[in-house]
Amino acid sequence: MCGIVGYIGGKEALPVLLNGLKRLEYRGYDSAGIALFGPAGLTVHKSKGRIRELEEKISAEKLPGMVGIGHTRWATHGEPSDINSHPQTDAEGRVAVVHNGIIENYGRLKEWLISKGLIFKSETDTEVVANLINFYYKDDILSAVREAVKRLEGSYALGIIAAGESDRIIAVRRESPLVVGLGKGENLIASDVPALLEYTREVYYLEDGEIAVLYRDHAEVYNGEGQAIEKEVSLIQWDAAAAEKGGFEHFMLKEIHEQPRALTDTLRARIRTNTDGASINLEEIGFNESWTRENSGRVVITACGTAWHAGVIGKYAFEHYAGIPVDVDTASEFRYRNPVFDPKDIFIVISQSGETADTLAAMRLAKQGGARIIAITNVVGSTLAREADLVMYTWAGPEIAVASTKAFTTQLACLYLIALKFGVLRGRIQKADMAKYIEALEAIPAQAETILSGKTNIQRFASLQFNKNKVFFMGRLFDYAACLESALKLKEISYAHSEAFAAGEIKHGPIALVDTSTLIVALCTQSSLFDKMESSITQVKARGAAVAVITWEDCKRFDRIADEVFRIPKTEDGFSPILSVIPAQLFAYYCSVLRGLDPDKPRNLAKSVTVE
Ligand code: M6R
Repeated sequence: MCGIVGYIGGKEALPVLLNGLKRLEYRGYDSAGIALFGPAGLTVHKSKGRIRELEEKISAEKLPGMVGIGHTRWATHGEPSDINSHPQTDAEGRVAVVHNGIIENYGRLKEWLISKGLIFKSETDTEVVANLINFYYKDDILSAVREAVKRLEGSYALGIIAAGESDRIIAVRRESPLVVGLGKGENLIASDVPALLEYTREVYYLEDGEIAVLYRDHAEVYNGEGQAIEKEVSLIQWDAAAAEKGGFEHFMLKEIHEQPRALTDTLRARIRTNTDGASINLEEIGFNESWTRENSGRVVITACGTAWHAGVIGKYAFEHYAGIPVDVDTASEFRYRNPVFDPKDIFIVISQSGETADTLAAMRLAKQGGARIIAITNVVGSTLAREADLVMYTWAGPEIAVASTKAFTTQLACLYLIALKFGVLRGRIQKADMAKYIEALEAIPAQAETILSGKTNIQRFASLQFNKNKVFFMGRLFDYAACLESALKLKEISYAHSEAFAAGEIKHGPIALVDTSTLIVALCTQSSLFDKMESSITQVKARGAAVAVITWEDCKRFDRIADEVFRIPKTEDGFSPILSVIPAQLFAYYCSVLRGLDPDKPRNLAKSVTVE
């Protein structure tokens, strides 16, 4: 995710801002920028690439000034470029804004501002915010920000400075973190604690809707109603390494916990509710009826690793909700097996990084074959995003741990949205069903949070099982697909031998492996197949395996036969993998830690496999 730093005090702001931004580099970014108040007024300097490139760009200039804001950008709206970098300014150059988060109604606000005669230079939602604030800015930037944020939908942490008010920085947040650092004769803002540690350990954590106004010698905080409030000062106890991980022991655990937020960002911006009811809007990616015309041949999904597992779930979802045939294949196989194309094929290519060599090769092959390509990726401006016909971004934010977690669940969110949209456009889903599906999707982030709040139960179970070297995941339909990902998570970071089996296949071979040293994790969320799962569980129990079941919160039928039951909140049976994988991610994480391994950096693995 993007990083924010702001400084007002007695020091030169430039080195403080650059230093703060460098402390946030670990989060991943594609461009950087600063805005400063100096003798020349409000100036903005920014550059695509690393902070080093920004430093080189401004090295010849003297940039004095004791007030400024800085930003590292991880692109969401618009490719990484100088113009799309932050700070963004309004058309008159009076207001400079740095922003983390996603403004969901930025398209409508932009149209409205364009109708008022404003011209935009970037593709960002942040430039819309800068112009909106300036629209309300007469002579008091605080009032202007208050008016503007009333119109913003989505998530934001904003740092704002305005020409003519060089004595203060405004900071406001909603659903994106923002911290005020309280120094002696200086005050700071930051999206993350590491940027502040060198200057202070006393902070205010801003809550949703609160606005902070930072002066050199004090900071004021107002609630959403505009009343001044007394905030409690918190003392940061973390060292620099713990601060980078937001207080979590590892990036992987942090990223597992970021899933409710990532899912909200990925889902919410694509769901519209009006007097007609709720619907899925994929106009943003240019997905319309021409993509789903009745004679669309089939959907082909290709990807690698975790992204391929998302593709397997996507296959089940497209067939179930849209009634369209789907082939799914690992990209490394697909590219070498002389696949047969039809120009009516729709090709969905999934990749967190957008740079995986096999996945890119498969996409290029499909393009040559005349297929139309939809990419699902987490990295704006990646090769995959540039070469595909349509791109749907997962808004998971940078994923640092090698084992993919939040990228996977947000890939699933994208696939469900496209599958449901297909279903509507092909006349398979009626309004009442759609309302039910959307309600279920909207509930998922909070349900993910509920699972995370019960993590100590999984930790306890891991402490009993972490030494097991034969761990098999089994399930049927959507559960089987979720088993593939669960088994990969465990083998990647704990090095236990774990595999996934379709439960119905157990008796065709894998049951020969089952003995008293085996742990079986049975995913049981496909209600129509509970009887079948019960019978498979009975068969492995009879061979001495320990069995843990992951099932719905209200399902008691496995209590009798399982050694351990983990319950997850009820959603649509078809959406279950997005939730059922979370206990498996946590189990893998705790097993890895209990084995004394580093879950963030598993042996022999790289985050992005850009070579064959
Ligand atoms: O960046 P991509 O999604 O294309 O990466 C694909 C796989 O290399 C990746 O999912 C890998 O399997 C992860 N380590 C899984 O945790």
